Amino acid sequence: MSVGVLGTGHYVPTKVLTNKELEEIVETNDEWIRTRTGIEERRIASDDMDTADMAYFAAVDALKEANIEPEEIGLILVATVTPNKPFPSVACMLQDRLGAKNAAAMDVSAACSGFMYGMITAKQFIETDAYKYVLVIGAEKLSKITDWTDRNTCVLFGDGAGAAVLGKVAEGKGILSFELGANGAGGEHLYQNAGSYLVQNGREVFKFAVRQMPDSVVNVVEKAGLAKEDVDFLVPHQANMRIMNIARERLGIAEDKMAQSIKKYGNTSAASIPIALSEEVKNGKINDNDIVVLVGFGGGLTWGAVALRWGR
Ligand code: UT7
Repeated sequence: MSVGVLGTGHYVPTKVLTNKELEEIVETNDEWIRTRTGIEERRIASDDMDTADMAYFAAVDALKEANIEPEEIGLILVATVTPNKPFPSVACMLQDRLGAKNAAAMDVSAACSGFMYGMITAKQFIETDAYKYVLVIGAEKLSKITDWTDRNTCVLFGDGAGAAVLGKVAEGKGILSFELGANGAGGEHLYQNAGSYLVQNGREVFKFAVRQMPDSVVNVVEKAGLAKEDVDFLVPHQANMRIMNIARERLGIAEDKMAQSIKKYGNTSAASIPIALSEEVKNGKINDNDIVVLVGFGGGLTWGAVALRWGR
């Protein structure tokens, strides 16, 4: 047996913020945002909805798809940089709301790579038979740490949550290979001081991303003993369409074989990969036996990638 995804789910707030509406808030324009980032609109959570609420809705969706009861979960991992509070963790809030009374719970802090770190942490506990099912979530309310007067950052981010239930799957399916990495020396390029707003040196993060993302994709494909041509679907962190396209071109895969939810949701940090994954499963773009590559990068600096054969 190996470890794989038993079910996926996601939730995004209903309020849409378009590029046109942003033109009223900061000196920007729809053309700049579309051509430089690929973003057309993003979702913004209401004042009475915080990260744990979005995480809850995504979790319920994933548990339903996996056909697993909350009491069966052994561990809840929530990747987020926007927890409701410094502590208790979002994972503990979720454990209570789900009624997952047999689950341990903690948050994972690896910024936009958080869902990759969560998945690989889950894999270890399942492989060692410590836990049968692990619920992994990426959830963010980035709008609350966004400086709405800074056009360099406020046009980029959005709110949402994605979830996956991991457990054992048939031999040959599930996670085939992974890569996790960090370079703390680059931490100054993307950070948030306590109680303040997110700060990003876009150009520096861009330079890091265009090198790291394609490299990680190629590394996990090779580690899995596969060829680039074997990849059926790519789910990259949704930070910038230009960065995503560079990774896609390195694999030589067609545009319709890559998740592009950035257009509708912007960059949702740790939530972007699981939201995109869940949507593409629901859209029927990811099917049994497909080779799927997930790849993320972000603050830390951190990165992570996973190659899997889809199915249970
Ligand atoms: O999930 C975390 C990972 N984060 C990322 O992956 C982000 C990586 N970086 C990026 O995606 C890009 O660097 C950005 C989209 C953030 C910026 O794009 P860029 O092509 O690197 O633009 P830039 O920062 O070099 O700025 C070019 C120009 C500047 O004007 P000047 O100095 O050339 O006159 C900016 O002031 O664009 C200006 N600018 C804007 N103009 C209109 C910056 N933001 C905006 C804006 N609207 N929103």
